[in-house]
Order: sequence, then C-alpha cells, then structure tokens
Amino acid sequence: MWNFSFAPVEASTYAHRVDLIFLTLTVLSTLLVIGVVAAILYFAVKYRSGREVDRTPAKISHLKLEVTWIVIPFFLGLGLYVWAAWTYFGEATPPPQSMDIYVTAKQWMWKVQHPEGMREIDELHVPVGQPVRLLMTSEDVIHSFYVPAFRMKHDVLPGRYTSLWFQATKPGRYHLFCAEYCGTSHSMMLGSVVVMEPAQYQAWLKENSTPNAVLPDQTPTEMAGKGPADPMAVRGEALFQSRGCNGCHGANAHVVAPALRGVFGNTVQLASGETITADEQYVMESILDPQAKVVAGYEPIMPTFQGLLSTEELAQLVTYVKYLGSQEAPAQEQQ
Ligand code: CUA
Repeated sequence: MWNFSFAPVEASTYAHRVDLIFLTLTVLSTLLVIGVVAAILYFAVKYRSGREVDRTPAKISHLKLEVTWIVIPFFLGLGLYVWAAWTYFGEATPPPQSMDIYVTAKQWMWKVQHPEGMREIDELHVPVGQPVRLLMTSEDVIHSFYVPAFRMKHDVLPGRYTSLWFQATKPGRYHLFCAEYCGTSHSMMLGSVVVMEPAQYQAWLKENSTPNAVLPDQTPTEMAGKGPADPMAVRGEALFQSRGCNGCHGANAHVVAPALRGVFGNTVQLASGETITADEQYVMESILDPQAKVVAGYEPIMPTFQGLLSTEELAQLVTYVKYLGSQEAPAQEQQ
C-alpha cells in the first residue's frame, strides 16, 4: 500500500512539541504567501495594460494600516521565538531521574556504554517512558547525533561532553544518523535506537551483559563490600588505581590533590577565584587538561592524561568520580 507521510513517526516527548512549532510556522507562512500571491494576481489583472482604471497615486500615509502590519507580525514572530526557545531550554535540562548513557562517536561508528556496563556499537537500546540523558564525545572529528523520529540532533565534539536527553514514547527501531560530514564514510555512519518495554529492556540487559568477563582481574580494595555496585563505576575504580589516580586523590593520600568524595555535583572554588559546578564536563576537562581549572589551594602539578585513556575509559573514570561524589567526605579529607 502506498504510505506517504511528511515526517518520520513521532517517537519521543520532544518530537510532538517540535512538530507543533513547525506546523504553526508552516501554516503562518502559507497564509502569508497566499495573501501576497493573491494580491499580486488581483493587481496584475486589475491594472493590466490598456485597461481603463483610476491610476492616480494612492494616499502616501496610511498610519493605521502600517501600524497593523508591523505590530501583528512582530508579535507573531516574537511569540514563535519565545515558544521555540522555551522548548529548546526544556530539552537542554534533563530531569533528575534520567538514566545516563555514554556515547562515543568515531570514524565511522557509534559506541555506546550503559551504566550497567553493557556496551554496544551502532545500536542504542533504551526503555520506553524513561528519561535518558546521553553524554556524548568524539574520538576524532566533529560528528552529529541525529534521530529524526525523536526530532533530535546534537553535535558530538572531541575533548568535551555534550549532552542531550529524551524520553521515548513508542517501542520500535529508529534510524540514527551522523549529521555532520566527518570523512569518507560519513554516509555509512548509521545506527539504530531500539526502544523497548521496560521489562523487555531488563531482559535484554540480563541476556547481553557478561559482567564477569569484562570486569578487571584485579579486584579493587573498595569492591570488597563498600565500593560502587554499578559495573561502569567499578571499571572506573580499577582505572583509578591502575593509572595511579589514587596516589594523589585517594582517601589515604597525602594532601597534594583535592579529595574527590562529595565533590561531584557541588560547587568547586578555583584558584582563579571563580567557582564551577563539578559536572561530567569539568571532570573530563580536569583529567585531559588539569591546568585549565585548578582547585583553590592546590598546586598545578597534575600531569595530563590526554591520549592515555580511551573515551570509554574516560567515561568509566568520570562515572567513578561521580560515584565518589555521592559518598560523604570524611572529616580528615575536608580542608
Ligand atoms: Cu560522523 Cu558524519
């Protein structure tokens, strides 16, 4: 059967809001075009060559008319702007209960890391009705994460996290495109977002995760009872030890580096006098470019880890620092 539609199916809470703005804009523009074209046709016929009509110039000033055609479009335009900006800012603020999934783009694939430790390539499985926040970074050039059915597109940049959030509303499989020219096989950088019923998603996670096979051989000390439970943070903890982070940032380290417990999500006082909220972007930057934002009271002595960690490892470390942030800072660690 011939099945035609102007737009892909609406599969996220955001999609309908975008479509409504787009529809309004289209209807307004169409009405305007119809009015202008109708006037052109009417006057072209009325004042065509050889026709006997009154051709004395019109009254120059028509204040009421002019004010009307300035004020109405002004408020229509302003209204659309406010509406669209409001929708955009809503999309930039993930709800607190969102699930964090890390996405890495590289020439020419999408790599995904779930908090439960699951990894996948060119596929992103998510439960329906659950807000999901994607933390995205690139290993090489600029890519763009684009899911038409969600009406979402966001650039993915090397060296920083960009994020976007969505809540899928319909189970199904949706196209994922790279929407930024990123080299020879850009057009092949395709994937799918698979939206599943929550129970189905849990079953899928269970079926596909093999935590024992991917966990590090050396069990970090903290894992014995009081460490993080989430496999991504567990891997982060192993890296924290194997890369020597704990030498300076560990609970028992000398006070050469800021302790990390209780830090994530809170305000940090910087040596420059500024303050910053410790989020994923700040933690990532501090690992890759430690001199950029030094914490007040500490020397800029940390070496960079640029090029020494894969983006997956970086995401695991960030997740571990996030886990530490949820732990209370012991008294002797506080300044
Ligand atoms: Cu990645 Cu285009």
